[in-house]
Amino acid sequence: MNKKLIAQSFGKASNTYEKDAPVQKWTAGFLAEVIKGLDLDQPVDCLEIGCGTGFLTQEMKTLFPHANWLITDLSADMLESCRARIGDNVSYQVMDGEHPALDRKFDLIVSSLAFQWFQDLESALKGLSDLLKPGGRLVFTTLGQETFQQWRDNLNQQGMAVGLHDYPPLEDMQKIAIKGCQVNFDRQKRLQPYENGIAFLRALKMIGAQAPQPGYQPLLPGQMRKVIKALEKSGSCAMTYDILVGTITKEA
Ligand SMILES: C[S@@+](CC[C@H](N)C(=O)[O-])C[C@H]1O[C@@H](n2cnc3c(N)ncnc32)[C@H](O)[C@@H]1O
Repeated sequence: MNKKLIAQSFGKASNTYEKDAPVQKWTAGFLAEVIKGLDLDQPVDCLEIGCGTGFLTQEMKTLFPHANWLITDLSADMLESCRARIGDNVSYQVMDGEHPALDRKFDLIVSSLAFQWFQDLESALKGLSDLLKPGGRLVFTTLGQETFQQWRDNLNQQGMAVGLHDYPPLEDMQKIAIKGCQVNFDRQKRLQPYENGIAFLRALKMIGAQAPQPGYQPLLPGQMRKVIKALEKSGSCAMTYDILVGTITKEA
């Protein structure tokens, strides 16, 4: 993972993100409902990782308006977009959530659709769990293995390399054990329709999510035309989002 490239891609997209992010918006609302359902006893110190333009931040400010929120993102531009939406009654920090430089503990850590950009998710979850107070919760969504399966299948059938990142299967995540914590994983699948393959790739670019696997050689124009045509022939261009929902609870 080239973190500089990831931050640049999302930074460039900070003004176009919301127009092309219906799944991200839905997911933030869904995650807020999951968090509401946990019946937390008014958390005091709260951290968000990978806030983007603030879909989840907005939900969290409504749910826990009196908490001390530290809102973070790898991209300074994304953080500024979030600040423009939410205002200055929370704290902001540019930070790599995979290696948080924080010496405080939190009652609640939240994140929506940012952890799929981590290099080593399991180690990161262990590190973030260390930042929880006793009884604290880390609640998040990330992408699972079946995400964009239709695009992957299409390229595989044509013998072409897939530039999309690989995501973990739910079953692997459910095996994660963290000392002193209860770990739970679930999934929600969303099928998002796109006009065609180009519209799908354009949407990834508009939200800043186009940084490919390290070492990936982009498709040549002729290869790209073949892939787009094959998708058109299949009759629909809908992409699966395999959304994994994790809840980690530190023992009291
Ligand atoms: C798909 S967006 C999701 C944004 C927002 N949470 C939402 O639901 O709309 C991913 C965000 O994660 C941020 N991000 C990527 N890698 C990160 C990292 N290692 N640490 C913190 N933020 C990261 C990106 O800059 C981007 O703003």
